[in-house]
Amino acid sequence: MACHFANPPLRAALAGFSCLAILLITGVPTSAQTPPGSHLINGSREGTASAVPTSLGNSGVSTPEVSSTLKDTFKGSFFIGAAVNPAQFTEQDTRGAALVKAQFNAITPENVLKWENAHPQPGSYSFESPDRYVAFGEKNHMFIVGHTLVWHNQTPAWVFQDDKGSPADRETLLNRMREHIHTVVGRYHGRINGWDVVNEALDENGTLRQTPWLKIIGEDYIAKAFQFAHEADPQAELYYNDYNLEIEAKLKGALELLRKLQAQGVPISGVGIQGHYHMDSPSNEQVDAAITAFGKLGLKVMITELDVDVLPLAFKYMGADVTLSAELQPKLNPYPNGLPDAAQQALAQRYAGLFGVFLKHPGVLKRVTFWGVTDGDSWLNNWPVKGRTNYPLLFDRSAQPKPAFDAVIRAVHSAPPQ
Ligand code: GLA
Repeated sequence: MACHFANPPLRAALAGFSCLAILLITGVPTSAQTPPGSHLINGSREGTASAVPTSLGNSGVSTPEVSSTLKDTFKGSFFIGAAVNPAQFTEQDTRGAALVKAQFNAITPENVLKWENAHPQPGSYSFESPDRYVAFGEKNHMFIVGHTLVWHNQTPAWVFQDDKGSPADRETLLNRMREHIHTVVGRYHGRINGWDVVNEALDENGTLRQTPWLKIIGEDYIAKAFQFAHEADPQAELYYNDYNLEIEAKLKGALELLRKLQAQGVPISGVGIQGHYHMDSPSNEQVDAAITAFGKLGLKVMITELDVDVLPLAFKYMGADVTLSAELQPKLNPYPNGLPDAAQQALAQRYAGLFGVFLKHPGVLKRVTFWGVTDGDSWLNNWPVKGRTNYPLLFDRSAQPKPAFDAVIRAVHSAPPQ
């Protein structure tokens, strides 16, 4: 694809070369390398990243040398984030922490702010890890995400029960929700930039999922959650976050839900498309259509949990329902000792296609966050089948960039100018 080059004689002379090749040949940055405007992170302009030259992928597939980082490459387009675990944000995992700092300018806590960890018992909060998480983000001038306030998973049973273990009544659950949100969001007031307020409230057919939140409080539990979060931090961005939003029925249901919330004046700023993808599903067109449709509502759109599962499906279901599981069988774990070259290149292609779509939505798509940093960190090694070896991310188990990393970097150079 053509590279947008400001100088017409040079453009003619270099026609046919990719932007990357032009940069390497001439040293002259094209507009694709220096898109106008850059994000302000926590009020200050982000520092210049150190360039990390890429090498061979873990399979030995040769890839061109690309000297860049994710956060520098997408600076004028969107934040580029990763879900991080305690070893990374406490810097106990020195290699992982260094990679996060070098490559990403946004972070999401993989687990430490979920209800079961942050508020395991009534009246008892556990903020040691979340405090370290937020401090790590601030120290590194990152966009800091809070995940997640109201979800039906990883929430202790007591939340939904009365003293006798029977379902709690509406008032009790609403009071618990208010107290939890005010305490957690209030603690990080002005420090956590955006919250996944409600996670996965929709079923695959686009209707509201029958969770204890819905059954006990009723449909307005979603609006209430946003209202409480807004009271606790009026400046924080507030998001609805879900998976399979590219699938027709669920997309339709999500658009209806979001429109309804907007019509009621609910303080919602954006929608998170989780992005737990497979090699051939959803299609790039479906991803494109979902971003466009949410953007038309005037909402910020984010890809919040990106990964690409390269292993065979354990069952027909595609999504991210963390309660599902299947038995480990050898045919479900075909690459225990490394991803073959062909699969490595196919993954690179898949990522190139996805980033080509992401780059088509300037001003609408605000952040792309990966669910994990290296392949070894990924939840997809244990879901929906425990003990597999998966390769869903851009960095291999030795924290080396894979061909998919180069493909993502190159996507910015081959995207048509917007
Ligand atoms: C969902 C949740 C995340 C995480 C992933 C899988 O998408 O939103 O917090 O649990 O599942 O790890």
